[in-house]
Amino acid sequence: MTLDEASRDVALKPMQGKVVAVTGAASGIGREIARVFALAGAAVATLDINDAALGSLAAEYGCRPYRCDVTDAASVKRVLDLAADELGGLDILVSNAGSAQQGAIGDLPMEELRRSFELNFFGHQNACQAAIRIFRRQGRGGAILFNISNQSVNPGKDFGPYGIPKAATLALMKQYAVDHGREGIRANGINAGRIRSGLMTDQMIVERASARGMTPHEYMAGNLLGVEVTASDIANAFLHLAQMDKVNAAVLTVDGGVMATSLR
Ligand SMILES: NC(=O)c1ccc[n+]([C@@H]2O[C@H](COP(=O)([O-])OP(=O)(O)OC[C@H]3O[C@@H](n4cnc5c(N)ncnc54)[C@H](O)[C@@H]3O)[C@@H](O)[C@H]2O)c1
Repeated sequence: MTLDEASRDVALKPMQGKVVAVTGAASGIGREIARVFALAGAAVATLDINDAALGSLAAEYGCRPYRCDVTDAASVKRVLDLAADELGGLDILVSNAGSAQQGAIGDLPMEELRRSFELNFFGHQNACQAAIRIFRRQGRGGAILFNISNQSVNPGKDFGPYGIPKAATLALMKQYAVDHGREGIRANGINAGRIRSGLMTDQMIVERASARGMTPHEYMAGNLLGVEVTASDIANAFLHLAQMDKVNAAVLTVDGGVMATSLR
């Protein structure tokens, strides 16, 4: 291979030689993250509670499927250890699995809030602790990328059970950066806006838009650019964040620009 060919390969396949684990990879944004990292040359471990839905990523992009419930610390540890053994280590964890619960915070059964925290906060902590142990064993640093949400900084009405653990996950990201930076481990996150996915279905978009007297397009494109942001946009933002070696403890907002969610 000539020098020119080698540098073209680095440009086209910036994740060549990297092992990436993506939680919640069977659907929506996680699926797109796995696809984009695989196309960028990474060996990708896809983790999901719904492992049956991981088959097409394996067939089309060579991702390795693993059944995993991120709310079960032992399950995540076992699966990430196995994936690291099978794929030759771990360089990047994309902690993505999550789901959106709703309810007015003053009336909400406590159990529902706890259930959301199990997935939208402790699920991230479980995956991160398991990844940290692997990064340490390897002694070559690592990166953790969190899929947070712009709800973490701009709470929506009746969205407390989702937004509150997301705000805690933003704090978790910073804590990992503070505690593990000297080990060469970076922690960053993305705050996405409204994205079509299994969490935000076409049906939900139609209902929410009409409740606000908007068309689905106006609802999804209600940002400064006036365009809909897609799962691919989020996945590509993660890919860029993964390559920014000196970016740490950062939140990248990917929502087309919304003043209420813009960090200051
Ligand atoms: N869709 C949006 O508008 C939006 C906006 C901002 C942030 N996010 C975040 O993006 C992430 C992905 O959401 P999405 O929109 O792609 O939703 P999605 O429902 O399409 O995908 C979520 C995936 O997580 C998996 N999952 C759920 N519980 C799990 C568990 N206990 N263990 C392992 N996997 C589990 C599901 O099976 C599913 O495959 C979430 O963290 C969500 O909060 C979504």
